[in-house]
Formats: sequence, structure tokens, C-alpha cells
Amino acid sequence: MIKPITLNNRHKIAPMGLGTWRSVKGQVGEAVEYAINEVGYRHIDCASIYGNEKEIGQAFHRVFSGEVKRGDVFITSKLWNTDHHPDHVEAACRKTLKDLQLEYLDLYLMHWGVAFKHGRVMEPLSKLGVAITQPVSIQETWRAMERLVKKGLVKSIGVANFTTMMLVDLLTYAQVKPVMDQIELHPYNTQESLIKYCQSNDITVTAYSPLGSAKGPNWMGHGGLDLLTDSVIAEIGEAHEATSAQVLIAWAMSRGTIPIPKSTNKERIAQNFAAQKLKLTKKEVAAISALNKNKRFVDPIGWWGIPYFE
Ligand code: A2P
Repeated sequence: MIKPITLNNRHKIAPMGLGTWRSVKGQVGEAVEYAINEVGYRHIDCASIYGNEKEIGQAFHRVFSGEVKRGDVFITSKLWNTDHHPDHVEAACRKTLKDLQLEYLDLYLMHWGVAFKHGRVMEPLSKLGVAITQPVSIQETWRAMERLVKKGLVKSIGVANFTTMMLVDLLTYAQVKPVMDQIELHPYNTQESLIKYCQSNDITVTAYSPLGSAKGPNWMGHGGLDLLTDSVIAEIGEAHEATSAQVLIAWAMSRGTIPIPKSTNKERIAQNFAAQKLKLTKKEVAAISALNKNKRFVDPIGWWGIPYFE
């Protein structure tokens, strides 16, 4: 096992994990069980909006009935945008706990810093195709999340998709400090200043879509951009007898960020885990970082008509 990372509240997290976004039903449970029991993963990243928490919960139940104990695995989930109102935060968390068959989460993240109208529609849109928001401030939602820590439902709280200025504001009132910002990070979107801000404030950074959000089931194409076939990455991989995916994971870890590559394929789940042993030279890390294009593969402008990152 590679050394865990210590969060600002002294809890520890494994330095890479298994992502479950776009992990389809019928595959995700087996993938999670295999990753924990056969490969050694000790960090699983979930979210209620991924629509697969029930199947993951069944896998956790099987796993934790065996040798691996609940306390051995760091489990994250995320509060969806329709549940930001303080009256809904605890119920949303309890629903996730029930689905995942857990008594507590290691980490609960605010998935996005925007509150949507509460209801059965997860992405309510106006006629103009713009998300219907609700007048709930991030501060109100954060206060409700802080109560989850006090109640023992979650050990730590944090955020995802927060920009630097959203964090600056959050830190002015947080009584429980966020331990984490989970953001889209890969060599085409390096976000160096945001990482630096987080690190200087003792907020750990998790890198989602570390492989460039490659060809999942809903893959829309990235205008020809594909990290897994990028020649710079591939050449560095050849020098180490490693795959491009392994180079991307090693690069993420070399920056002190925690990559959570998604896979439901056993061979790739094992291959990604093994990347933790790969050590890149400073020159290689710099060459990979120089590929930056500030290119986001995950941008809600296309889903919600909200220029979230502008
Ligand atoms: P699969 O589940 O079939 O392995 P990201 O985490 O950046 O969103 O990337 C996830 C995508 O990359 C999924 O399509 C996943 O497919 C694929 N993937 C995961 N691991 C590897 C790997 N080692 N090599 C190639 N593709 C991978």
C-alpha cells in the first residue's frame, strides 16, 4: 500500500481511488468488489447522481461481510444540486447511506456550488434550456453539511467543482473546514493556480476524469483530443513500459492530487492501481504539464446553460 494522505482534520485517505461516474448498472458492483477484494483499492468515489449507488451498496455489503472491514476503505459520496436546501441535506445523505448500505461516509461533497429546484427531476430546465435554480446560498447548504459531521453521519465534508473564488468565500464562514475540492484535472486541464490555492489552505485535491474522461458510454467525442493517444504521454509510457493511462495516474499523483480513474474492466482496474508504483522524472512531469490547454471535458454549460466556469 502506498502511504495515505492526511486530510486537514487528521483523517487519512488512500492516494488514488476508483471512480464510478458512468459505471453502468450490472457492471459497477462487480467492479467495486473486485477492486477492493482482489486488487487492493481502499478508496471508492460515488455520487447519488451517478444512479448506481444501490448496486455499489450491495457490493459493499458483500465486501464488508468478508475480510476487509468498513474502516479499511475510504468512501466518498456527493450531495446533488436538487437537495441543497437545509431541509433536504440530511435526507439526501441518509438516502445515500441506505443505498450504499453504510452507517457513515468518510467524505460527503457538495457536488456543484449551485442549488436546483427540489423535486424528482434531477436537472430541471426552463424553456430556454437553463437550469431552474433555487434561492439557497452555498453558506446555508454548508451549514447543513456541517451538522452531518456533528451527527456522525459523515466524517469529513468538502466540495467538488469549486473555483478558487468559491473556496475563498467558503473559507470566510466555514466552521468545519472543507477537507477536499474534487475537480477536473488532467494534462489538458492542469489548473495549477487552483491546486496551489488549495494546497496553501490545506485542502486536498482530488482529480476527476484523470484519463481525460475517455470513451465512456455517453462519450460525445472531444474534438479529436484524446490523452490516451497523445504522443508525449505514449512516449513516456514506452520509456517505463507503462500504458498511457498509468502515466496519467502517476502524473496526477506526482502533483499531490488524488486520481480516481473510472473503470469497470478488471484488467484496467488492476492496471490503474499498479500505476501507483510508477515514478516519473521531473523532466517527464514538466513535459506532461506543458500539454495544458485549459480544456475541460466536463462543463455544465452544455447541460444546464449555466456558464459555471466563466
Ligand atoms: P472502462 O471502464 O471500459 O475501463 P476517466 O476516469 O478519466 O473519466 O476515464 C474513464 C474512461 O477511461 C472509461 O471510459 C474507462 O473505460 C477508460 N479507462 C479506464 N482505465 C483505462 C485504462 N487503463 N486504459 C484505457 N482506458 C481506460
